[in-house]
Amino acid sequence: MTLIRELDTGTPIRVADTTVTLTIDGQSVTVPRGTSIMAAAASMGTQVPKLCATDSLEPFGSCRLCIVQIEGRRGYPASCTTPAEEGLVVHTENSAIAKRRRGVMELYISDHPLNCLTCSANGDCELQDMAGKVGLREVRYGYDGANHLQAPTDESNPYFTFEASKCIACSRCVRACEETQGTFALTMEGRGFASKISAGGTDFMGSECVSCGACVQACPTATLNEKSVIALGTPEHSVVTTCAYCGVGCSFKAEMKGETVVRMVPYKDGKANAGHSCVKGRFAFGYATHKDRKTKPMIRAAITDPWQEVTWEEAIAHAASEFKRIQAQYGRDSVGGITSSRCTNEETFLVQKLIRGAFGNNNVDTCARVCHSPTGYGLSTTLGTSAGTQDFASVDHSDVILVIGANPTDGHPVFASRMKRRLRAGAKLIVADPRRIDLVRSPHIEAQHHLPLLPGTNVALLNAMAHVVVTEGLVAEDYVRERCDLAEFESWARFIALEKNSPEASEALTGVPAAEVRAAARLFATGGNAAIYYGLGVTEHSQGTTTVMAMANLAMATGNIGKLGAGVNPLRGQNNVQGACDMGSFPHELTGYRHISDDAAREMFESFWGVPISADPGLRIPNMLDDAVEGTFKALYIQGEDIAQSDPDTQHVTAGLQAMECIVVQDLFLNETAKYAHVFLPGSSFLEKDGTFTNAERRINRVRKVMSPLGGLADWEATAALSNALGFPMSYSHPGEIMDEIASLTPSFAGVSYAKLDAEGSLQWPCNDAAPLGTPMMHVDRFVRGKGRFMLTEFVPTEERTGALFPLILTTGRILSQYNVGAQTRRTENSRWHEEDVLEIHPFDAESRGVQDGDLVALESRSGDIALRARVSERMQPGVVYTTFHHAKTGANVITTDFSDWATNCPEYKVTAVQVRRTNRPSEWQARFFDEDVSLTRIAAPLDAAE
Ligand code: SF4
Ligand code: SF4
Ligand code: SF4
Ligand code: FES
Repeated sequence: MTLIRELDTGTPIRVADTTVTLTIDGQSVTVPRGTSIMAAAASMGTQVPKLCATDSLEPFGSCRLCIVQIEGRRGYPASCTTPAEEGLVVHTENSAIAKRRRGVMELYISDHPLNCLTCSANGDCELQDMAGKVGLREVRYGYDGANHLQAPTDESNPYFTFEASKCIACSRCVRACEETQGTFALTMEGRGFASKISAGGTDFMGSECVSCGACVQACPTATLNEKSVIALGTPEHSVVTTCAYCGVGCSFKAEMKGETVVRMVPYKDGKANAGHSCVKGRFAFGYATHKDRKTKPMIRAAITDPWQEVTWEEAIAHAASEFKRIQAQYGRDSVGGITSSRCTNEETFLVQKLIRGAFGNNNVDTCARVCHSPTGYGLSTTLGTSAGTQDFASVDHSDVILVIGANPTDGHPVFASRMKRRLRAGAKLIVADPRRIDLVRSPHIEAQHHLPLLPGTNVALLNAMAHVVVTEGLVAEDYVRERCDLAEFESWARFIALEKNSPEASEALTGVPAAEVRAAARLFATGGNAAIYYGLGVTEHSQGTTTVMAMANLAMATGNIGKLGAGVNPLRGQNNVQGACDMGSFPHELTGYRHISDDAAREMFESFWGVPISADPGLRIPNMLDDAVEGTFKALYIQGEDIAQSDPDTQHVTAGLQAMECIVVQDLFLNETAKYAHVFLPGSSFLEKDGTFTNAERRINRVRKVMSPLGGLADWEATAALSNALGFPMSYSHPGEIMDEIASLTPSFAGVSYAKLDAEGSLQWPCNDAAPLGTPMMHVDRFVRGKGRFMLTEFVPTEERTGALFPLILTTGRILSQYNVGAQTRRTENSRWHEEDVLEIHPFDAESRGVQDGDLVALESRSGDIALRARVSERMQPGVVYTTFHHAKTGANVITTDFSDWATNCPEYKVTAVQVRRTNRPSEWQARFFDEDVSLTRIAAPLDAAE
């Protein structure tokens, strides 16, 4: 195995309708108009020496190393900034060019430490490469004059250093931060000899830097370098795999030494990220080998007993006998399982297969229940498929972007950078969010409209926007006539035109001025290609499904589905939440969203698996917990999911868990749910197995094993072992065989195989005979369901109401550096940015309660109370408070209620009536949490140690 090195063409390859043909070093080459001479040369295999150029950035023309000669022109133009033109005759090498290049390099090297042999970038340094390439043999100037060799090193960032003495002032870092990331944290201060890179006049940690790593990636020297490379040395081989954090699904090269990850480098050919990354995927991989990993299977009779380490065989046999005993005693439907959106498609498929085949029921659900289940229901009802309509690249063609209930710069950072690029290029932005999220105003971006609606009023706001479209004659009539069910459209149009849906009537509900809503609606309908991007701020409501349908209505009415730059696009939370849904994780669906009552689909599985499958939908997670409390549901297999922390109304969840007789938890760590478990099976991280994840674009990406499973088995192997012990045979030698089974049973995956994924890089489903290379955009000529279906979206306020006792609304979300329940990111240096969950509160609400920034406050709802620190912030609107849920000890879900979406039971995390007051101690639940953290996680000394 070797290190993968992608070609760097120096400047971006352009896309153009016309081409030019020129001659470079005697060879004719044809390139799109606008391509630089440097990139044209690279396309025919000639690498012109360069330092300030790299193909992820626009050319800058500062180093003068890339000079060439053009016949008929005077001087030595820089090939990076000179466009290729028809008929040019270019020479990239001759003695005059070589002499000048050596002169340039001599100047650079005369102000550069010559400790190459001990430098962390030795062998991976473009400056070193270029010195060799231009044939530099001596440096005549010496080090006596003024130089930068004593410039200080900035070590403040936990993941990379800035060693200023090695900086050649090429500005690639500054441009990467601007162009690739869009944060504008770096500047080049001073001029000429005095010019130096500055992180806003402070150190990196104190600056606006979000630690995305783009500058580190762009730096041609060791100036910006990963601390892991400094510690471990340069990597030896690399494997392309997929980030295991969010639903963007970035591709990375895991650069390795043996089985040790030295660094994760964003992969340029990754179709979701095109070489960009965020702090999580780029740097926060240390959790995979953290000392907290539990790598031995364990069992115990009661949760108050200490865990006993056992062999895999013993753990699997014990779990299987418990499931059999419980089914014999309480009935076939008394057991179930939960699949993981963190695990691969293949693993998720196997868990639902085990439940349907070995347990013999449909009691399978997934954590998508608590995030995007309304997306599936809402989009399949209106458009015919349970997924987003576009690929990420589509946003490059958007003219208007509506972001609703999503905070992409924190939740989906790499896509946010792409979206920000488009916004800087002139697209207009509408943000509908209770908070003033960063996108509302950031460097070179300002939303045309921020609609700060009250949590729980999405439907009223979208209805009001649609009302403007319908009543002001802005409907795309030809599109609707041709593509949608006309009778349903007309019924919807009559409904939406009712006065109660007008912006003026809705203002009292949403709190958003009617004029602002009207202006935003007009912009959406008339501003060109209009796209909707949304997140959990849409779905996690009692009307989550209605809101998804309202967005589909708005997009159809304005003709914004089925073309580039448009669409309804869920920003998926977890890495494989799309895949978990695709793989039949819901109790009512087989793979590919076929209803369990569909005889033909069920028979296909029955004949392949050789078992009967019940036609009745099974239990959803909340029903499993309710039934456990009632005493009829007794055992649960949970793979890679921590419902005790992530699900709402924690005390109800833990009551349900405590009522069961056997809980099997398969995870990397002893998580909160494991406190209530009887069998613990060591999970495997994404680095330890092969498989696939499916991202928010429906893109199936390969996950490739780079190290052996620390616990000995990959998750799919453990599930297969449990199934075998239950008497339902599963024998696979590689996850590729599981994918073959998925493909043979799932029409939308029929053309997917590991061989094709390896050849193509990735595939967007549907991928079958009709679309052998996948489907970047859905609903192009017609909707998947045939005619687009307008649904009536009556606004029904949540039953969760504010009042005298609970006058504020709590809404929740996540932050860039942490990830969901924090199990991974809390075990990395990312905690330096977010050590604890805090409560954001508007100055007005804080002052009226005598609360100051940093005070400990009690946050109380009808469900429970917790204590956390207050952050007084004008990002909030009066009456609304906000917190994250990354730290188990905070217990944010002790507060949330059990209200849920009418169609899918997705919990209403985003609306909880609360009160806030100062306090000086943790809540009762938090005190108990600390006790249980000790009492329910004890591990007995191994038997051989006791002897
Ligand atoms: S790490 Fe990212 S945000 Fe920070 S300075 Fe570099 S490019 Fe900018
Ligand atoms: S830090 Fe690196 S990328 Fe930035 S100017 Fe210096 S050498 Fe160039
Ligand atoms: S944007 Fe998401 S997928 Fe990409 S690196 Fe960050 S966490 Fe990973
Ligand atoms: S690479 Fe062209 S001027 Fe630096």
